Amino acid sequence: MDGSSRAARILVASNRGPVAYSVGDDGELRSRRGGGGVVSGLSAIDSAGESLWVCAALTDGDREAVRRGTAEPGSRMISVEPAVFHAAYNDIANSVLWFVHHMLYQTPLEPAFDEDFRHQWAAYETYNAAFADALAEEAAPQASVLVQDYHLALVPALLRARRPDLRIGHFSHTPWAPPDYFRLLPDDIAAAVLDGILGSDRAAFLTRRWADAFAACCADVLGAEVSADGREVTHRGRTTRLGVHGLGADADFLRERAARDDVAERMAALRAEAGPGRKLVVRVDRTELSKNIVRGLYAYRRLLTDRPGWRSRVVHVAFAYPSRQDLAVYREYTEEVGRVAAEINEEFGTADWQPVLLKVDDDFPRSLAAYRLADVALVNPIRDGMNLVAKEMPVVSDNGVALVLSREAGAYEELGGDAIVVNPYDVSATAQALNDALTLPDAERADRTKRLAAAATALPPTQWFLDQVSALEA
Ligand code: G6P
Repeated sequence: MDGSSRAARILVASNRGPVAYSVGDDGELRSRRGGGGVVSGLSAIDSAGESLWVCAALTDGDREAVRRGTAEPGSRMISVEPAVFHAAYNDIANSVLWFVHHMLYQTPLEPAFDEDFRHQWAAYETYNAAFADALAEEAAPQASVLVQDYHLALVPALLRARRPDLRIGHFSHTPWAPPDYFRLLPDDIAAAVLDGILGSDRAAFLTRRWADAFAACCADVLGAEVSADGREVTHRGRTTRLGVHGLGADADFLRERAARDDVAERMAALRAEAGPGRKLVVRVDRTELSKNIVRGLYAYRRLLTDRPGWRSRVVHVAFAYPSRQDLAVYREYTEEVGRVAAEINEEFGTADWQPVLLKVDDDFPRSLAAYRLADVALVNPIRDGMNLVAKEMPVVSDNGVALVLSREAGAYEELGGDAIVVNPYDVSATAQALNDALTLPDAERADRTKRLAAAATALPPTQWFLDQVSALEA
């Protein structure tokens, strides 16, 4: 669907879309379709072909697709100037808003909001306005629009100004920062972000904790009124409802996918590489600052130092897939992960035991192989909107998995009772938790895994999406 058809009844807007394009050596466009809950949710709804996914052109291949007028049915890509996109995505969304919501600023030098920041912010406004324009063009009268995440915080208000007839929802996939931290943004920018989201009829979050933090920021920064039950925010005469939808793991998909031969092959390879009989402490993440991979390695080193009995009996399988490599701080973090893993291997490794198996090439069937084999899952983010790895591992585990889980992950709200819970900054406590997890009796581990899997799959992605649509339309 392209052009200004005003025909779509349900629209999704997100930075990253369902399809990515590249130009092959022969000059032909190739497309790769991603999976995920929104894709299946939309296809569940879209019997009449009246839905549309609006997303950004992220790469040269995507921009070429837009130039050639190529579009997947049911989606429209927006191409803004590469420099504008870079400033909006890398400089504002990923370096400022992501950092604020995950409370990642840690040095006395950052952040420093200056003239460069103001230019980047202008690009973020341009990019958000391009989305609002496209959505306004495409949406049928009274259509429902579901705007996703911190990349598009300004879209709800911009879209409402263009099309007051629409039902607009916003969903945050990240945590939300408490007011004292959120207020490190310049006052006008903090207000713009909140005002932008309050342009929606309904603003939804992954957990009650993030919804409450958003409401607290609205009260603190804007002087908005929050209802006694925390379910509504009223500002300048308009009320926005707040919702919570705790995205769960997709059990059917995971179990079917994890049962295939390519996963079995990788299980055999991983077992051979780790050494037979050794316990596996597994983590699978994007190499993302908020995932706290390095402190996880420190905790593992502490375990090997303080409890030498584990040496040669355990292997830390760390899959850390590169992410956002346009940003220097991510590149440096990726190097740091490699450096610390190598140090541990150097310090403790023997001729037949490599204590850390670090893999950085993204391989989904190998991740599932590690999920199935894991004795311990290490999920210790500094802060995380939900963390689906914590939910996925118990679902496909072959022999039960003990979950070491950060209390700062959104998943803690649902899984905390059956996990071994850690403060992600406390390396000593994390080392102790690893030991507790490794020594959890088999029957106890099996029981907990069953309960974790049940809690983890309570709200499958398709239902998660459909719930949001019906709540918006209620
Ligand atoms: C994670 C977050 C999402 C975010 C996405 C963006 O999955 O949980 O909130 O939208 O990262 O990742 P990207 O690779 O597109 O920067």
